[in-house]
Amino acid sequence: MGRNSNKDSKTGNQADYQVNKQADNQADKDVRQEQPHEIRPGQSIELLKELHILTRDGKLNQDSRRKLKQVYHLYQFIEPLLQEALTTRSAVTLVDHGAGKSYLGFILYDLFFKQRGGDDSHIYGIETRDELVQKSEELAQRLDFPGMSFLNLSVAESITSDKLPAQIDVVTALHACNTATDDAIRFALEKKAQFIVLVPCCQAEVASVLRKNKGRALSNPLTEIWRHPLHTREFGSQVTNVLRCLQLEAHGYQVSVTELVGWEHSMKNELIIASYKDLPRRRPTERLHEVLQTLGLEEMQSRFFTPA
Ligand SMILES: C[S@@+](CC[C@H](N)C(=O)[O-])C[C@H]1O[C@@H](n2cnc3c(N)ncnc32)[C@H](O)[C@@H]1O
Repeated sequence: MGRNSNKDSKTGNQADYQVNKQADNQADKDVRQEQPHEIRPGQSIELLKELHILTRDGKLNQDSRRKLKQVYHLYQFIEPLLQEALTTRSAVTLVDHGAGKSYLGFILYDLFFKQRGGDDSHIYGIETRDELVQKSEELAQRLDFPGMSFLNLSVAESITSDKLPAQIDVVTALHACNTATDDAIRFALEKKAQFIVLVPCCQAEVASVLRKNKGRALSNPLTEIWRHPLHTREFGSQVTNVLRCLQLEAHGYQVSVTELVGWEHSMKNELIIASYKDLPRRRPTERLHEVLQTLGLEEMQSRFFTPA
């Protein structure tokens, strides 16, 4: 009798579990069935809710549909790089600088790394705001994403941190503030990363040097391009990215520049993707120095350092 009632209660628990699991599966299925083309098979509904891509009751609205489209748009650029990195090694390591809430890392993990089935592939998020680091750690635990770590470090500190492995394959920095993008480039060059993906934020440093040197008699009539304060800022921002591209080329990378379309939370939508190809360095190095000289930016040489 005792054995039977024990068995009955066990069966009852199992039945409850089955009912709950079926209800969960049904809820997920409902969400997927509602938007079969937008939510991909295996994608974590919980994560999409956390990222406010799905509403609390698991629905997509017009806003979140746009957000999801943007995320996929960025993913389509990064996924082939991860695949390519895996043609020469068994696991891929990605570092995301200025990670913020780490939504890029989480999406990449959910869509790509999760499928790797527990190999040594890993995503590291680097972020100076401790509360964001803590939150990301908690979320990764809750979602059971063991291949994600978050470090409360500045990008500059991460270059020498022993919390990161020596071999990093992909470096990303999405709207990392001001010169954090430049530190991310330095990090990637130190680590000899195969791929670098940057969506720069506004960088004020070059504009401030242009502003400071405005009175200097540069013979070039092109100085008109940055005479007005608004133009100084915009041209400074444009030149910064030009110099970053030349710097990457000067280190043997092939660089492509494109636009991250419809990225709503920022006006800064330039997407720079650099792939290491061991290309000739002399010409881009010369060009970089010429641009610095022409624009009176010689003092920026250490920021945009080139190979010795
Ligand atoms: C504009 S948010 C972008 C966050 C995220 N990458 C995104 O695109 O949603 C910039 C983040 O970079 C962090 N940050 C700024 N400077 C940094 C630095 N030098 N090192 C590490 N994190 C930095 C900020 O705390 C912030 O969370």
